This record gives sequence, C-alpha cells and structure tokens, in this order.
Amino acid sequence: MEYKTIMCDVLVVGAGGAGCRAAIEAAKHNLDVIMISKELLGKAHTAMAEGGYNVSLGNVDPDDNPETHFKDTIVGGNYLNNQHLAEILVRDAPQRIFDLEDMGAVFDRTPEGKIAQRPFGKQSWRRTAYASDRTGSEIMVTLTEAIRKTSVRVFDEVFATKLLVTDGKIAGICAVDLKYGDYLIFRAKSVVMATGGAGRIYKVTSNAQLDVGDGYGMAYEAGCEMIDMEMVQFHPTGMVKPESAKGRLVTEAVRGEGGILLNSEGERFMKRYYPDVMELAGRDQVARSIMTEVLEGRGSPDGGAYLSIAHLPKRIVEFRLESMIEQFEDAGVDIREEPMQVSPTAHHFMGGLKIDENASTNIPGLFASGECTGGVHGGNRLGGNALADTQVFGALSGETAAKYAKENRHLGIDRDAAIKEFERLEAMLQRKDGVSPADARDELTALMWSKVQIFRKEEDMAEAVKELRRIEKEVVPQIKVDVPVKRFNPGWHQAMEFVHMVTTARMVAEAALMRKGNRGAHYRVDADPDETGYYNIVIRKGKDGEMELTKEDLVITKITPP
Ligand code: FUM
Repeated sequence: MEYKTIMCDVLVVGAGGAGCRAAIEAAKHNLDVIMISKELLGKAHTAMAEGGYNVSLGNVDPDDNPETHFKDTIVGGNYLNNQHLAEILVRDAPQRIFDLEDMGAVFDRTPEGKIAQRPFGKQSWRRTAYASDRTGSEIMVTLTEAIRKTSVRVFDEVFATKLLVTDGKIAGICAVDLKYGDYLIFRAKSVVMATGGAGRIYKVTSNAQLDVGDGYGMAYEAGCEMIDMEMVQFHPTGMVKPESAKGRLVTEAVRGEGGILLNSEGERFMKRYYPDVMELAGRDQVARSIMTEVLEGRGSPDGGAYLSIAHLPKRIVEFRLESMIEQFEDAGVDIREEPMQVSPTAHHFMGGLKIDENASTNIPGLFASGECTGGVHGGNRLGGNALADTQVFGALSGETAAKYAKENRHLGIDRDAAIKEFERLEAMLQRKDGVSPADARDELTALMWSKVQIFRKEEDMAEAVKELRRIEKEVVPQIKVDVPVKRFNPGWHQAMEFVHMVTTARMVAEAALMRKGNRGAHYRVDADPDETGYYNIVIRKGKDGEMELTKEDLVITKITPP
C-alpha cells in the first residue's frame, strides 16, 4: 500500500469560515500551517450563509451590548449552551468582525457610515450585521483572499478520512487526494477540526453537498467526546420547488426585513402561535408552526407556507434581498410581487465535538471550531450566531493549536492503523458485489427525514436507531463503487462519506431517543411532561467499541435555567 507523508506543525481540516480563520491565526505564529479542503478553496458552505453575523455593536439600537447578546443566546439555546463558550462568542464577535473589515470585507452601512444591523429572530435588538443577503459569500471571498497572503499551504480537493491518535494524543490524519487518488498521511503537532455540519444526512437540507458529517464520524472514531448531537436545527424557510432547489435556504432576513407568513387561507398564522414576536420567534418555533399548518391542512399546494414580502417597497427588496430575487426568479417567482412557498429544511447542527474555552477537545492536540463543535448554541442557535461563531472560535482554535504546536513535538504514527484505513478505502473500489453508495445514501437520508425530524416520537426514533445499527453492520462493509477508478471519482467520494454519514446519523438518533422531554430543537409529540431536560448528552466510543451515551450537568456561569 503506497502513501505519501506530509509534515506540518498545525493542520487545519476544513476550509470554510472557521477553518480559514483558524489557519490565518495559526500562521501568525511563524509555524508551518497546512489547511486541507474537500472542495476547491472558497467553495465552502459558509459562502451559502445569507442573512448575517450577530454582533452587539449597537450601531442601530444603541442599548445593545454583549450581556444582552449573551442572554438572548442562552434563552434562544433553551439554556443548554456551555455558558463559557457563549460568553466568548459575544465577547469576541465585535473584534472578529473588525478583523474581517481589515481584511477587506464590506458590510452594508447605516446612513452615518457604520456597519448596518438588521433584526433576526428571538433577539432583543437589531444586531445582525450583513452584506445584503450574501453575507457568508462576502466573508468567504475575504478569507480566501487573506489566506493567499499568508504562508498557509492549502491542499484542496483532499479528503480527510481518519484521525491518527498515538498514546491518546493527536498525531495526524489519513487522507485521499481526490484529484489523483493518492493516499496521504499528514503528520502534525496539532490539528484543528473545522469540518462543518451534516445537514446532508437529511433528504431536505439547506447545506452544501460536502456537509455530510465527516468531522463527526472521524472524531467519534478517534475517541473524541461529542455533545448534544440530537439538536438539529430545521430552518423554517427552505425553498419548496422546483424539486432541484428543494431545501435551499430562504434567508431569515426576509422575515427580518418585514416578510410575513401566510397559510392557504390567507391567514397570518404566526399570530396564533407567538403573537408577540410573530415571524421573528425562534427558528424551532417558526418551523413547528409552519409544519402544524401543513399537517392540519392549511399548507400551500406544494406542502409549505407562503412567505410574502410583496408589501415592502421594491427598492428595499432589491437592495437588501438581491440573492432572494435571483433565487426565486430561477423558480419563476417575482418576490417583489408574489409570495414564496417555503417549508422547513435541515440547516444546522448545534451538537458536535465537545470543546472547552481553549477550543480543545478531550484528545490532547485536537482542537475544533465552527459548526462541527457543540455547546456554543445549546438546543437552538440564533440566526446570525453561526457566522460569528466561525470567526470567534476559528481564531481561538488557530491560536491555541499554534501554542500547543510550539510546546509539543510530532508523535510517531500508528502505521498499521493508517494502512488498514487505506485498505478499507481501496476495498470499496475492488469489491465485486455490494451496495451502491448513492442507493445507500438515499435510504439513509429518507430514514432520517421521516423518523428523526421536527416532530419526533419514541417508536420512530427507536426504528431509526435499529435501522441505522443494521446499516452500520450490514451495509457499510458492503459499499461498492461502480467504476474502480481512483482519479477524481465522485462515486468513491460518496462511498468514503457514507460511513461518516451513518455514524453521524446514529449519534443524532441515539441521543434523540435518550432525550425524553422537549427542549430546543428536539421536540417530541409524546414528550414526558415531567422531564425539564436541563442536561447535555455526551456521546463517546466505549472501550468495547459500542456507542456510549451519558447525561452531563450543564456548564453555567451566569444564567440559571428557570
Ligand atoms: O437565514 C439565514 O440567513 C441564515 C442564517 C444563519 O443560519 O445564521
């Protein structure tokens, strides 16, 4: 089995908002930093974030401050957040947006020339800074340019498949160069995981193709503790049609700018659910309200609700929601005149790798930031807090990984484990009979969509767990790529991703089954009313190889749950 070995000080896995920011920060320490990206540099899911970046600048509402941002984040997160992490988020969000400006990002301005801020759901003030409705794209373009001015070595179209751990500490990773099919070992003194989320384990999602949960799968297998994996955010407004665009994000900024939700009877139904805040209730609350309308027969013809912004002056819509206009023009709808059809779409993982205040995981030398981590957002993330998270914890993880790399040396690699990993990948190509990764993936995403969705119930989740255990045992070892070619072979990439999708889906389903009450995004129609649910669920791989789940106390610094 041939492979190449590449050495560096700090390795960043993932090249979205968090990964780029981590690499930029680590490179300031005069270290050899490598960032690997499954896609071409710049083609990250962060670029698809639309509405904005939460930061308590007080530019529009002068009374805003980090304390209020903190409180909104904890209340929005249904008190499950690690409050140390939430404090860091709100404390550092202002400096990190100024960093972006220094790198060249251009955000929309107030008439006085300050960064403009718009209202987003469940927040006390207008706090969400934005660049029209393509804020993530502005940030990604800026970070990509900035990376090019550093010494960071970028390896794009490289897929990390396994973390290598020696004596309980991180030593490197196994990866595949997707362009040429070469097997690679990256040896590093420290590693930052910035691998994003896993919306793609669901049939309907706003996420980019690459968000399949690679980071969750690799980290779990390596012994990393995972937290709150049952907490999956369904964004209330995804596109409903055409089929090819189903699930695509319709930014919360539409509602922030004054968009209203209507049912098939023309009723502004949010007044029945959350009369005080209407369309700007929490994402979990709006998603459940839309689904209730649909399930009770008041949905739109294609199974959603209507979202209308046609009452607003056209120039506001054209200026602040230009991507939305284009997105719906492609679907034959002029949103300046007609309502959009929308329904919930799998959007964000609040759960993930458990980190501390240094962005460190329980594996020494392994750090993490961005959506692949858990704890910052608790049971439900506020819209706009994700972009802030990528920058705040991206920078923090880059800094702490650099410090760790300065104080530690390279560890020896477990070559047997690496070769076994490459043989596993090779076997997918060589197998004569087996299951197509595309078929296996369809089965898994349909299962998650039907059994572990917005409204959950015991028997569905139990069935999902049973099925996922079967898929893990029987289907994963049988995955077979149709064309046995190693150079850029999408079938092989899908096969490599599939194992991580199964592990991730299992963590979501097992944790969801364990949580008996309603909290945040986890909502059971058969909830135990006596269960307040003020705990986190931590998952780890047990010594016997089994998935272990435990309930842990919340990390509280300031706000005690009611
Ligand atoms: O709706 C949106 O624009 C999404 C923002 C977010 O998830 O933070």
